[in-house]
Amino acid sequence: MRKDLCSRLGLAAAATLLLSILPQPVFGLEVAYNTAWIEGTPLDYTNKNTYKIDKATTVNGGVATLGSVDIAGNAETQGLKQYVSHKNYRLIYVIVEVGYRLVASKAAGIKTLTDLKGKRIGTIAGSSAEVFVRSLLNGAGLSPSDYTQVSSNVCMRSPCGAATFPGLLKDKKIDAFGVWETAVELGIEALGESNVVVFQNASLYREIYSLYATEQSLKDATKRNKIVHYVKALNQTLDIFRNQPEKVYSTVSSGIGVDVPVLKKVWDDHRWGPTSLTDGVLLDFLIREDRYLAKADKRQAMSREDLQKFIDPSVYEDALKL
Ligand SMILES: *[C@@H]1O[C@H](CO)[C@@H](O)[C@H](O)[C@H]1NC(C)=O
Ligand SMILES: *[C@@H]1O[C@H](CO)[C@@H](O)[C@H](O)[C@H]1NC(C)=O
Repeated sequence: MRKDLCSRLGLAAAATLLLSILPQPVFGLEVAYNTAWIEGTPLDYTNKNTYKIDKATTVNGGVATLGSVDIAGNAETQGLKQYVSHKNYRLIYVIVEVGYRLVASKAAGIKTLTDLKGKRIGTIAGSSAEVFVRSLLNGAGLSPSDYTQVSSNVCMRSPCGAATFPGLLKDKKIDAFGVWETAVELGIEALGESNVVVFQNASLYREIYSLYATEQSLKDATKRNKIVHYVKALNQTLDIFRNQPEKVYSTVSSGIGVDVPVLKKVWDDHRWGPTSLTDGVLLDFLIREDRYLAKADKRQAMSREDLQKFIDPSVYEDALKL
């Protein structure tokens, strides 16, 4: 009896030792994204439904979480900001492009973009939404000193508090705001469609919400294989988002806490992936945005070669072969 126990313990110890010496198999994929945004919901759907070769788990985060997670979803603005100091980050897939909107109150005397001169305009400092607002107004000849930028919180489901976008617009504390959906749609509803004017220009600025991985993960054969399968699964998810949205409205809506009728209204502002990574449009867009961010962040703009390296189309190309 005693002897038997001893040998069992010995066996267990040997097994533990063996496990600690052998390379550990990598289980699962960890996927970071902001779980409160529409843009991240295809990742949620993929983790739960279409990624089948392995287990994918959600971590609330973004591209800044890379390194401790395997892949991450985030706007190109955050991607670029991280890439400045993490040249090993790679943009491997475009999940969705969103033409942000800016809603303005007619009662404040706004009919055209140039009427925004001298007005109070809400957005989120340091975000893709700020890039949008500044690019849109710059296109109308207005520089940041021509208007007052107001920061606050985004509300995506009514009832919205007073200190939010759209609460501030409703209470006339601001004259307009530009941010991601569904907040803008709620702003339109708060004032009434006939009392607002809505501006959008996707060629000046659109959010390019993308998937990122590190160069190291992509060089590790086991990890890369999982990521390639993940991209394939994500691409299947987006086919559903694009062509059969009725299938996902309710899970997207409950996942991020927005109402289905509001979600349906903003759905068409979302152009679900894939988008070409190689036709030069994305690269030119990133070069232009990086020049803007470099100026705002008081740093050197990155070179075309560096930004070309940031985009890695090889994962998608491998996914096409599956
Ligand atoms: C969008 O911006 C571009 C570049 O400034 C301009 O040529 C175009 O007319 C704008 N489109 C709309 C709908 O305002
Ligand atoms: C992704 O989806 C598009 C549109 O459905 C399809 O043409 C393409 O082949 C798919 N790519 C991959 C890697 O499966």
